[in-house]
Amino acid sequence: MTTECFAPAKINLTLHVTGQRADGYHLLDSLVVFADVGDAITFTPAPEMSLTVDGPFSTGVPCDGRNLLWKAAELAGVTGHLTLQKNLPHGAGIGGGSSDAGALLRALGCDNAGLALGADVPVCSYGRAARMQGIGDMVHPVANVPPLFAVLVNSGAYVPTPQVFQALAQKDNSGQEDMPQHGVDFTQWLHRQRNDLQAAAITIAPEIGSVLAALAACDGQNLVRMSGSGATCFALFDTAPKAQAAAHTLATANPDWWVKPCVLS
Ligand code: C5P
Repeated sequence: MTTECFAPAKINLTLHVTGQRADGYHLLDSLVVFADVGDAITFTPAPEMSLTVDGPFSTGVPCDGRNLLWKAAELAGVTGHLTLQKNLPHGAGIGGGSSDAGALLRALGCDNAGLALGADVPVCSYGRAARMQGIGDMVHPVANVPPLFAVLVNSGAYVPTPQVFQALAQKDNSGQEDMPQHGVDFTQWLHRQRNDLQAAAITIAPEIGSVLAALAACDGQNLVRMSGSGATCFALFDTAPKAQAAAHTLATANPDWWVKPCVLS
């Protein structure tokens, strides 16, 4: 029997870097949500492992044991044929292979959250709004995030995650404020939080600054920020039509950019 799963884009609404462990990994405090856009995966049990990749971002994605999706199947103790429709830019701060791996682990009911496959895999294997702490190993469900209308933008800039962490000017920043209670303006709360990797990523890929400026110039945006270690950035809007109108304007002015209106929850 074939299992189908959806691997949503992972968005870090906040990403505070609060310290560094002796082994070099950084301590994080991040509010993570998931989009209604993502990669599509199927898994059909078979005696041997195999993987077929297609979709708009399939170029450069390994079809063998180097792929996190393949590694996730191995971690779950299964073999079979995997298909991956790569709809999301990868190496882009929105989950990429981590979301693929997490979605498969979840669909297979695997107990192992997949930290060994990457720091983002546990939150992706949970797959719903969560506060992520530690190096990514501590995942606490968060109930009161309202659905958010967003536009995601990736200009094609590539910023390797280790390089962004290395470029951090300060590693012992404050953590997130406590999550807002019901009735508190969520966007106002978000404004007071940060992505501590954003400035570091801009030093490596100044183009990210241009993406953030283009998002900031959109009518009706409430908040503009980078996700993860970049380069994908997002803007939030009050309504779906406002997000769609902004996406249309951005895509028209920047035909080379990946621009996606979506709902985050
Ligand atoms: O775990 P993952 O493969 O996603 O991490 C990629 C790189 O990002 C790590 O090798 C490390 O350099 C950096 N990283 C970190 N602290 C984290 C997560 C990632 O320093 N909590």
